Amino acid sequence: MAAAATAKLQEQFDAGLTTRPDFTIDQPLERYGAVDHAVWEQLYRRQMALLEGRACEAFIEGAQRIGLNVAHVPIFDAVSERLMAATGWRIVAVPGLVPERIFFEHLAHRRFPVTWWMRRPDQLDYLQEPDCFHDLFGHVPLLTDPVFADAIHAYGRAALAVDECALPLLARLYWYTVEFGLIRDTSGEASAPQGVKIYGAGIVSSKGESLYSVESAAPNRLAFDLERVLRTRYRIDTFQKTYFVIDSFAQLFDALGAGIAARLAHPAPLIAAAPYAAGDVLHSDTIYTRGTREGWLDDGDV
Ligand SMILES: [Fe+2]
Repeated sequence: MAAAATAKLQEQFDAGLTTRPDFTIDQPLERYGAVDHAVWEQLYRRQMALLEGRACEAFIEGAQRIGLNVAHVPIFDAVSERLMAATGWRIVAVPGLVPERIFFEHLAHRRFPVTWWMRRPDQLDYLQEPDCFHDLFGHVPLLTDPVFADAIHAYGRAALAVDECALPLLARLYWYTVEFGLIRDTSGEASAPQGVKIYGAGIVSSKGESLYSVESAAPNRLAFDLERVLRTRYRIDTFQKTYFVIDSFAQLFDALGAGIAARLAHPAPLIAAAPYAAGDVLHSDTIYTRGTREGWLDDGDV
């Protein structure tokens, strides 16, 4: 995702890394210390244990396929080599969040920007901005899936054509799919809680939300609908009140590519329409589970 320069980003610039105009850097391998490697290993082991049976198969297989199961922060070039062989994507190191247009440009060229630095040991459970673990463990395994990989590529291309004024709508879509999406479980495993599995990067990289998103009775789980999601506000400070469930990555490919292009070519009516609150359930929604709303805060949607 993208945002203005943050303090952390500025800190990295100040540290003297050479940043290219497209915001990429060479992964500064010499800057990782024993603590960084230990944090990676601890998070990897913890999340993979949690995600077995909860995340979709493509994620679990992808994480193993690109070699994330190592006792050190992965070397980006080695990950890229495996990813390139799978779907023609590669990862590029960045100091942190990059501006939206530049982010879209990378996706449109099948490059996924990955923050190089690791969170600290006291930030295992939560940190506000994406670090290497979120970006690499959260986002990159699914890029080995050909349909998902094409969906993100299509998103980058479609997003580049979208008018500036519609970017907040695009952010909602990315949030409710790529970051916090659930997918209908078709594995036939009786064990999948609520009949859904996780694919969103914000969920798979979070211990608490990996459990909450598929097991808690509190949130709504609704069938994904493009227009519905484009109009729905979300939470950045708490677990989501609502998760949207896709049927397949093919559905995601349609929404993130042709769907955006068609729906946001003339975005004015959609921008003018009143947005839905993060916890709303509409008559038109297809409901997987209606949330009990337990523990919800009344305000704070963005
Ligand atoms: Fe992310």
